[in-house]
Amino acid sequence: MPFTLTTPLYYVNDRAHLGSTYTTLACDAIARFQRLQGQEVRFITGCDEHGLKIQRTAEAAGITPQAHCDAVSAGFRELWQRWQISHDRFIRTTDPRHRAVVEAFFARVEANGDVVEGRQQGWYCVACEEFKDHPAGSEAPDCPIHLRPLEWRDEVNLFFRLSRYQEAITALVARPGFIAPASRRREVENFVAGGLKDFSISRRDLPWGIPVPGHPGHTFYVWFDALVGYLSALFDADDPIDLEVLAQRGWPARLHVIGKDILRFHAVFWPAMLLSAGLPLPEAVFGHGFLTREGQKMGKSLGNVLDPELLLARCGRDAVRWYLLRDIPFGDDGDFQQQRFSDLVNNDLANTIGNLLNRTSSMARKWFEAAVPPAGAAAATSHPQAVAAARTDQATVEALTALDFRGASEAILALAQEANGYLNDRAPWKRIKQPDQALEVAADLYAVLEAARLVAVLLTPLLPEMAARMLRQLGQAPLPSDATAPGQAAPTATAWMQARRWGGLRSGDPLPEPEPVMQRLELDSPL
Ligand code: MSP
Repeated sequence: MPFTLTTPLYYVNDRAHLGSTYTTLACDAIARFQRLQGQEVRFITGCDEHGLKIQRTAEAAGITPQAHCDAVSAGFRELWQRWQISHDRFIRTTDPRHRAVVEAFFARVEANGDVVEGRQQGWYCVACEEFKDHPAGSEAPDCPIHLRPLEWRDEVNLFFRLSRYQEAITALVARPGFIAPASRRREVENFVAGGLKDFSISRRDLPWGIPVPGHPGHTFYVWFDALVGYLSALFDADDPIDLEVLAQRGWPARLHVIGKDILRFHAVFWPAMLLSAGLPLPEAVFGHGFLTREGQKMGKSLGNVLDPELLLARCGRDAVRWYLLRDIPFGDDGDFQQQRFSDLVNNDLANTIGNLLNRTSSMARKWFEAAVPPAGAAAATSHPQAVAAARTDQATVEALTALDFRGASEAILALAQEANGYLNDRAPWKRIKQPDQALEVAADLYAVLEAARLVAVLLTPLLPEMAARMLRQLGQAPLPSDATAPGQAAPTATAWMQARRWGGLRSGDPLPEPEPVMQRLELDSPL
């Protein structure tokens, strides 16, 4: 059964920002880790293209909504390619097949008696595409997220009978592990305990949406349509649009990764919709935190938006991935600080890890004929470096399984630090001058090279490119963790299991000429 993992489907009102890039990078690390563990992965991302917000954006630009969506979603696709995101599926909600899936889904919900007409009154945030809890009759308040005035709505449209699912959803959100991190569960539990109200799933007078079958004049509310996109993405190209097929295509999802602002949609509305349609529920919903920049909320009006294109061009993929995954506890809010960013990249990647590999392989090349030295005492799994590596291996795999990227990064970094300390204690550059110590020097270098190899292996899901450069530097093949092409076999767990064993380097194998595996970041001007 495939491991299905999703990012949110991003709105195309604007280009990707640091927030969407953050979610996507984190999912990429998860997908790569799962592939290395031998899982067949369906890593889904895509674009959410309907609704009033998109319609207005296109109108303002003076183009048709479709032309606007085509251009912006192509931008997302290209951006993820440049970030080397390993998604398996990219779904656009304007895809005609998606429309057919939404129709099939709605037919089940309606047949289940969960669609009724109702009157919706309330304050609406177009940027959130969501009604907010504010009393009627008051002044137009601002949306707490977008800081823009809410709009008053009073319309008759179709409602989904969410209230029927009170009991089921109460039990679901209390289930350990369904909402992660656990600290976010309380907020959803309170919302559910407040009593679930039916919510409107259609709009009148909104041309830019999927028409509701059998209800002329109605189009689907953008969230109803978008959530179903997770299902549409799983259909293979020649599959009939039959929701029963999904059981063989990777539904239910193992994990929806989202930002905390859209947790309610994923942990309450979506499961109720699925129950109504008779489909199984996702196993977990992970709500990560929000990123600020130098302590400030990012926004166009503040002019402090960090453009992922620029970040990529100036800093490169490894640096950004490392900073975001290593520094921000996944699930918590985080603050992007330029100085800390370059300090961490330079200290951890260029110095601690990069220099370790570089200086050790330079010594080995110089004194042992440009090859991996004889392992001697370092062949034993009781060697202090082997013991440290085994500890790191366990800690890293446990942390990655728990989506604790920071814990994994710290464990890997600690191994590199330990190897550096070992090298300094053993001072091979002094001992090599005494001919009777050559074998001991060889064993020390072997142990440290092997530790560096394991650092690279374990870094693969987090920093696939740097890991590949390190492995090549050690004369080893990189570990494949990318998406598989259709029809191609998924990677097996064996390569990863084998690579994680102590003793993978073979004495006598050539060591290529060292090149820096990580460039230092010299950010002399603000990003
Ligand atoms: N289209 C909906 C999702 C539909 S899923 C079926 C949507 N799109 S979005 O483009 O507005 O947001 C995508 C994600 O970006 C959300 O998970 C949101 O939490 C996240 N972020 C937006 N700003 C962010 C930060 N400043 N920091 C981190 N993530 C943030 O919502």
